[in-house]
Amino acid sequence: MAIVCAFRSLYRVSLLSALFIGCANSGTASPGAGGSEPSAGSAGRFGTPNAGSAGAPLGNSPGGAGSSAAAGNAPSGGSESEGTSGAVGVSGSGGAAGSTQSAPPRAGGNSYDGERATTASFDADWKFHLGDTTGAEAPAFDDSSWTGLSVPHDWSISLPFNQNSLAGSGGGYLDGGIGWYRKSFELPASSAGQRLFVQFDGVYMDSTVWLNGTKICARPYGYSSFECELTPNAKLGASNTLAVRVNNTLPSSRWYSGSGIYRHVWLKTVNPVRVAYTGTRVTTPQVSAASASVSISISIQNAATTDQTVTVASSLRDADGIEVAQATGPAKVVPAGKSADVAQMATVSNPRLWSTTSPALYSVVTTVSVDNAVVDRYTTPFGIRSFAFDANTGFSLNGKNLKINGVCLHHDLGSLGAAVNTRAIEKRLQLLKQMGVNAIRTSHNPPAPELLDLADRLGFLVMDEAFDMWYGSKTANDYSRFFRQWGTTDITDMVARDLNHPSIIIWSIGNEIPQAADETVAGQLIAAVKSKDQTRVIAQAFASWAFGEGTAGLEDLVGINYAADSYDSWHKSHPAWKLFASESSSAFRSRGIYNDDNTQATSYDTNVAGWGASSEKSWTDVNTRAWVAGEFIWTGVDYIGEPTPYEWPAKSSYFGAIDTADFAKDIFYFYQSRWNYDGPPMVHIVPMDWTNWTAGKSVQVFVYSNADSVELFLNGKSLGSKTVDPVAGHPNSGHLLWSVPFATGTLQAKATKGGAVVATDTVQTAGAPAALTLKADRTAIDADGLDLAFVEVDVTDSQGVLVPQASNKIDFVVEGPGSLVGVDNGDATNHESYKGTSHSAFSGKALAIVQSSTTPGTITLKATSGSLKGATATVTTAALTTH
Ligand code: GAL
Repeated sequence: MAIVCAFRSLYRVSLLSALFIGCANSGTASPGAGGSEPSAGSAGRFGTPNAGSAGAPLGNSPGGAGSSAAAGNAPSGGSESEGTSGAVGVSGSGGAAGSTQSAPPRAGGNSYDGERATTASFDADWKFHLGDTTGAEAPAFDDSSWTGLSVPHDWSISLPFNQNSLAGSGGGYLDGGIGWYRKSFELPASSAGQRLFVQFDGVYMDSTVWLNGTKICARPYGYSSFECELTPNAKLGASNTLAVRVNNTLPSSRWYSGSGIYRHVWLKTVNPVRVAYTGTRVTTPQVSAASASVSISISIQNAATTDQTVTVASSLRDADGIEVAQATGPAKVVPAGKSADVAQMATVSNPRLWSTTSPALYSVVTTVSVDNAVVDRYTTPFGIRSFAFDANTGFSLNGKNLKINGVCLHHDLGSLGAAVNTRAIEKRLQLLKQMGVNAIRTSHNPPAPELLDLADRLGFLVMDEAFDMWYGSKTANDYSRFFRQWGTTDITDMVARDLNHPSIIIWSIGNEIPQAADETVAGQLIAAVKSKDQTRVIAQAFASWAFGEGTAGLEDLVGINYAADSYDSWHKSHPAWKLFASESSSAFRSRGIYNDDNTQATSYDTNVAGWGASSEKSWTDVNTRAWVAGEFIWTGVDYIGEPTPYEWPAKSSYFGAIDTADFAKDIFYFYQSRWNYDGPPMVHIVPMDWTNWTAGKSVQVFVYSNADSVELFLNGKSLGSKTVDPVAGHPNSGHLLWSVPFATGTLQAKATKGGAVVATDTVQTAGAPAALTLKADRTAIDADGLDLAFVEVDVTDSQGVLVPQASNKIDFVVEGPGSLVGVDNGDATNHESYKGTSHSAFSGKALAIVQSSTTPGTITLKATSGSLKGATATVTTAALTTH
């Protein structure tokens, strides 16, 4: 029995308080919950504030150049004619109303700021330079030596892992620094009279934007979305140059952030009289099976030089685009240079309620007219559902009690880095859905808009989180430097951007904020949220070492990170508090590993951080208490950085139920068996390796299943049957356990329900590596230059059995209209480039991600590995027919 990790001390840059990481037992460790609880009130992890002091007020608006929503709305002079000029062309299609509900949202076709025919992708044809430079904002600057690329782009992910990187282990040893982007583009003369904006969904971080040499905006927070007005400095019928400087001086984050324009960019051409930026708010004050009242608030912006009389019509559509209700109101005068709100009500009869199992969506198509001419048409997706939190019974959705079975997620996408890709996010969410996850916490920052669109469409509840720090730093160059000036703006913009998503139930004002007890700041953030939305609950994720009892009282919902031994005492001392486990578990494991060493952790659910608990214990703690609304485990998927409990050569996390290459670890199936208890019958054997054991020596065999009972067979001989008891806290509610003397051959689990075998799982002893097999997750994808096929590579023996410890190096060649955009194997210690053309297997598997181009055809991925029999996968790509 090996002991791993002993005591390790990690040091955060801004403090020197040691962290003690719990010890773990080795692969054949006895089963059970494992792990110790953190001692409440132990040394803080993130030390003291580096700026400001408790109680100081936040600035109300950012100073300096550029701002967010309100930027540059004043008319630029007398050149605009009123209202009718430049009316937006309106097609008869009614916009994008709901027609794509069953399909994933497509990057390039959506914008969180409503959906408008006049919003265009601005992702293509950027030039990039890594490093600082002078004069690059000037149009005449010579960027001919810069690299041409499309955004979303993350420059850090292509860099080599660097043990001396200022990113440290937290940032995954990938460098950041300063980078510049430039884009030259024509603006049509026909845009005269219109207002032009560029919208950035996110730039990490501290970005400054110039148009034709003039600074037009800046945004320090790397997770905020923002728009900048181009109009005053735009040259119509001529070439324009946009320049963006990005400053990611490290360390800026406790996890891998990525660097650059890592989310989509949009060019918006709008009438001076229009729906304001993130200007619609659709809520459902009353919801029943018979009808739902829908409240629609529309902010109309008038950037013309004269007052305008507008009429606003709302058409409510179901997911098929069929109109289900309408609302209009009297004409309204919007003064020149001002905005005005229009409020409307509608009723939807027999609404299809949004839920995690049936995520029905609707949309409101808002038509704004001046003098009977349509000047703007704007589509807002929304959903109809009700929810509540109760201090005794937890969470309910549409009147039905529902335990929150959630995961915390960071935003990187493994080998794709932080660069947003809709399909990559969708694939992860689909896997999490199979695991039984019903909720996502966007730890610890506002997510990409695409994640929220997908959560709406796939049926996930969301805890949308604003910050990991306020004014006190966790790493030297993080956002705390800007919080005083920008905090309320950033959180207000987050809520304004996201409030129409039915998936969102919780706004979080922060995670483990060392100054969590600062009631002044908490109060200001809460007020900022409420200024935009009062239909969600507001929470903070408290660490026991920085618990703000007073601020917890200000919030609707009290989030407890870890500290499960405090659940009962807090419930007793504060019976009115609505409690949930905003973060739980922090157990770590490596896929396919059953013995610890100094770089890998066993998969037997016994390795936990000093503040954490095993998956089974966290699940039990939450599910034996009706009043704990649920949990968000740390984490659903591994992320780059924070390789607890190790450091170099480890560079990515071990916490995930799914590794960075999107391969499920054993613990995935524990959650599937409990969280998806009513789902398709399943059974899973731990270990997944029935090869690397000593003959005759006992192997602990865990079996996870949601069936009634499981019978285990070794080489056809029954090892007995065991009954599953799904009631948390009961024996056999986590895993069934056998101790099996190892013999080569086949170990099979047969799960039975109502007397019939409903699921089987088999592990087999493998021989030497002999061949590769390839399996694409989809063999037909869109030829849109964005879509992806994830090709799993298995190293198998001559009989096709996966070789569980195979680490063969695999070479890839792509032919046809596509490219290889990422390679990985989920090994937290691997330093091969994510962007290479070859990669080693880990625990027998590797991943190659192939991306389409805009040319339809057949992409061929060839995989070879020395003397092993190679394999080929083909993926056809077809032009988009919808959208
Ligand atoms: C939590 C923290 C997370 C992550 C996790 C690792 O305390 O909120 O961001 O660091 O620990 O266990």
